[in-house]
This record gives sequence, structure tokens and C-alpha cells, in this order.
Amino acid sequence: MTCIKVKDLKKSYGSLQAVDGISFEVRPGEIYGLLGPNGAGKTTTIEMLVGLRTRDSGTVDILGYDPQVAPEKVKSGIGVQLQSPAMFPRLTVLELVELFASFYQDPLPVDEVIEMVGLTEKKKAQSRKLSGGQMHRLAIALAIVSNGRIIFLDEPTTGLDPQARRNLWEVILGLKKSGKAVFLTTHYMDEAEKLCDWVAIVDQGRIIAEGHPETLIDEHFKERALEFEQPAYVNEKRLEKLTGVKKIVTDGDLVTLYTETVSQTIAELFDLAKETGQPVNDIAVRRSTLEDLFLKLTGRRIRE
Ligand SMILES: Nc1ncnc2c1ncn2[C@@H]1O[C@H](COP(=O)(O)OP(=O)(O)OP(=O)(O)O)[C@@H](O)[C@H]1O
Ligand SMILES: [Mg+2]
Repeated sequence: MTCIKVKDLKKSYGSLQAVDGISFEVRPGEIYGLLGPNGAGKTTTIEMLVGLRTRDSGTVDILGYDPQVAPEKVKSGIGVQLQSPAMFPRLTVLELVELFASFYQDPLPVDEVIEMVGLTEKKKAQSRKLSGGQMHRLAIALAIVSNGRIIFLDEPTTGLDPQARRNLWEVILGLKKSGKAVFLTTHYMDEAEKLCDWVAIVDQGRIIAEGHPETLIDEHFKERALEFEQPAYVNEKRLEKLTGVKKIVTDGDLVTLYTETVSQTIAELFDLAKETGQPVNDIAVRRSTLEDLFLKLTGRRIRE
């Protein structure tokens, strides 16, 4: 059973192909993440799914309906948090959540939702008096209160402090537990790894990799990432010859070696350091991440 089915979706703005033929499916109880850098086409995609933007071509099925043909059917079954929400500045947090709850047949209890996003103390505050992070959490509350079968969250944790971010992760995992599908966008790879059952990495309007986060990483990397920040090694040809090194990526002074034999590579790297008289300091070894995967696939870092 699927609750979102998208096929060959396209959208251009003038000569810019913002979404360039993407396809995917989402099932109930699944957290699906669209990951990609700024301008990848994530918001454009969400807007087309929820019926806020028309597509150029392709098909979209949300809970059995096409948002362009039956927008009301789609809207009554979903909750949406948008990246730049238009708010009524003089309404209080409580009034806004109550207002949104009134749009739906079977909303969640308003107080409960306000508590979930940690805004209980701000219940009586006008939305214009909220901080950026609080405003953001209010936007999420407005999505959740719908009790929709699919909750769409466009960069739910951008701009939140670490504590608020972790709290929100728990809220999102709770939505999944209650059987909802969550469709979110993010450019935080750690967030995607922690939350998502399935991720699609998007770049320039296309999906360049898709799968379960850990499986995706394992498929692309048998190797570990070995990182150090030393300008002297940026153009060092001999790094390629170290045992186990499969790939080298440099980004400013930061050198990342992907190796299948960590200890041997490190030993040889230190030999090279001795030979060239250029020390290698602050060396860090880590498991490959989705961030590495993006780098490997595009040659760029996801955050510039
Ligand atoms: N209304 C619009 N008119 C013209 N171009 C647009 C419009 N909205 C978005 N774009 C362009 O389309 C591309 C995709 O934008 P989109 O907002 O979907 O990206 P995004 O992945 O959500 O990025 P971000 O991470 O910054 O939110 C960008 O190059 C953007 O400049
Ligand atoms: Mg966006």
C-alpha cells in the first residue's frame, strides 16, 4: 500500500528546470526524506505534492487523489508545514492552532500539540512576538494538529537549537509510530540518517540516489573516511598510492581519503609525513555518512 506515488514529476521556472523527472513512493508508517542542497528542488516538489503549485508534467497520487484534480480531498487528509509560512501576526499561538484544528474533521487535541512542540509557555503570545525558532515550531504544530495521514515537513529543524532539534526528532518518530507517513526535506544528513526509513538524495532537480540510509552508505562505501586538514597534502599525488585508498577528495585545506584498510593507510600516511617533513595532525577516522555519499556522487559538499 502506498500513500504517495509520484512519477516523472517535472517543473521548470522559465529556463530553469527546478524538478527534472523525479519518481518515488511512500508508504504509511514510513519517514521519507528528500535530501539535497539549497535550490535542489525540494520545496518545489513538496508544493506540487500538497497542491500549492502546478506541475508541468508527470503524475502525483496522494491518498488516492491527484492534488491538481481534487485539492480539497488531498488537503483534508494531510498536514503541511511550509518553509516560509504566512502567519496571522496578531493571533496567539493557541488561537492559531485552534484555527488550523478547525479546518480538519478529526484534529488532535490542541493543548497536546502545543505541548509536543514545546510552546506551552507561549500559548498566549501573539505569533509576531515569537522568536524565529518558536515560529518554526508553531508552523510544525499547525501541520501536526491536522492529524492527517501524511505529514509534510519542509526543513523541520532548520534554525532550531540542538535541544529543540532533538525534541522534534522525537515528535517526528512519534508520528511514525502512530502510523502516519512523514515526508520531510532536510539538508542535514545526520538528521536523515537518524530519522528516515528511506531517503532520496536530490541534486539539481533529480534523484541521484535512493534507499535506506545505512544500506545506501554500505552500497557505496566499503571504505572509511580518513580526514585531516593540511594544505601541504592537497596536491600530493602520493596519497593515491597509499594502500587501500580508493578515492581522495579535497575541499580547501581539508583532505578526505576513503580507504578500505584504515590502519595500513594511516601507517603509510605517517611514513609519507616523515619523508616529506610535513606533519599530518588532527587526523580523524569515521564511518562514511550520507554527507560522504553526496560528495562522492556530486563532487560537492551538501552545505557550501
Ligand atoms: N517561484 C519561483 N520562481 C522562479 N524560480 C524559483 C521559484 N521557486 C524556486 N525557484 C528556483 O527553483 C530552484 C529550486 O528551488 P526550491 O525552493 O525548490 O529548492 P530547495 O531544494 O527547496 O532549496 P532550499 O534548501 O534552499 O530550500 C532554485 O534554483 C530556485 O531559485
Ligand atoms: Mg526549500
